[in-house]
Amino acid sequence: MQFARLVIDDLRCFQHLDVVLQPGINVFVGGNGTGKTSLLEAAHLLSHGRSFRASAADALLRQGAASWTVHAEIRRTAEQTQLLGLTRHAGGWQARVDGQPVATLAALIEHCAVICFEPGSHALIAGPAEERRRFVDWGVFHVEHEFQPIWRRYRRALRQRNALLRSAAADVDLTPWEQELALRGEQLDAMRRRYLGALEPLLETLCAALIPELGAPVLLYRRGWPTGESLAAALRGSRLRDQALGHTRPGPHRADWSLSFAAAPSRAVLSRGQAKLSALACLLSQAELHDRRSGDAAVLCMDDLASELDAAHLEAVADRLQRRAGQVLVTGTAMPPVLAGSTTRFHVEHGTVRHA
Ligand SMILES: Nc1ncnc2c1ncn2[C@@H]1O[C@H](COP(=O)(O)OP(=O)(O)OP(=O)(O)O)[C@@H](O)[C@H]1O
Ligand SMILES: [Mg+2]
Repeated sequence: MQFARLVIDDLRCFQHLDVVLQPGINVFVGGNGTGKTSLLEAAHLLSHGRSFRASAADALLRQGAASWTVHAEIRRTAEQTQLLGLTRHAGGWQARVDGQPVATLAALIEHCAVICFEPGSHALIAGPAEERRRFVDWGVFHVEHEFQPIWRRYRRALRQRNALLRSAAADVDLTPWEQELALRGEQLDAMRRRYLGALEPLLETLCAALIPELGAPVLLYRRGWPTGESLAAALRGSRLRDQALGHTRPGPHRADWSLSFAAAPSRAVLSRGQAKLSALACLLSQAELHDRRSGDAAVLCMDDLASELDAAHLEAVADRLQRRAGQVLVTGTAMPPVLAGSTTRFHVEHGTVRHA
């Protein structure tokens, strides 16, 4: 897919923005605070239903406005286009596909695959486990259609068990919810494991291209409950402790994965630039896996691509971007010389974007 056109109303510094985008690499250049990150954030909203900036829900609305909207014209093939829209107003969300309201955000998101790298993406390597679960689940969601309903059922059973734990309910009341948790939890784990298994060889290739100096990458997945034990048994075994804590400990809601390297066995020893490159390798391999499995290229967004990267590493990243079949949106305070060739360039200035 590619964005043919992006229209933004009352989001952050944009009162009304209407920008026509090109296939291949689109570079947005502008000073600090002009709206570069906000532009990518708008694209990300259509594909994730939330911002990549932490606690941004209220901050998204342009000061003084009542609601914000992001529209996109998506081009899938030369003949096939699709209109996606997302509005947030005081009463909630409204998502539209080809002008028709859809009941859930998932029904919008499934049509839009955007992978964003932004300064906060370091968290993928060094931040909380939730970031890493989201990363895996986004990848699974786009290839396994049963993921969303299973995840919803899991979350519902988890809420029920937690409520029963807090009301000191009898074991007999916990049992049916634990059975549901165990069934859905094992399914989620199997999907995540399959996903990371497929990602691993691509990640190895990306790491070898971007950060060969760190040596071979090691991807370690922890499913969220002890190995060698079924989830049903782990839930039964942790009842007393969970009751004392007031919430459920074992389960895929506590899963995590880590990326380390032969020459950097712990994430604590990675430099800032190395952490950025490691996160980039994860996201670029995710994009590649998405493209292979869905037969459609995701849009890659690279916010502030050049910051923290030396010339050699930037060139290695640019080389990967240039070889991608899909559309790439890059931002920076200056045009990275390595991208100066075959790219479409835009100037961003105080909430306006114009073709350079
Ligand atoms: N809710 C809002 N209403 C109005 N303006 C906002 C709102 N949220 C953010 N802004 C402003 O929007 C502008 C664009 O922010 P953005 O983060 O997109 O800038 P940027 O071009 O990425 O800057 P940098 O180069 O520093 O990363 C900033 O000037 C910011 O103060
Ligand atoms: Mg920015």
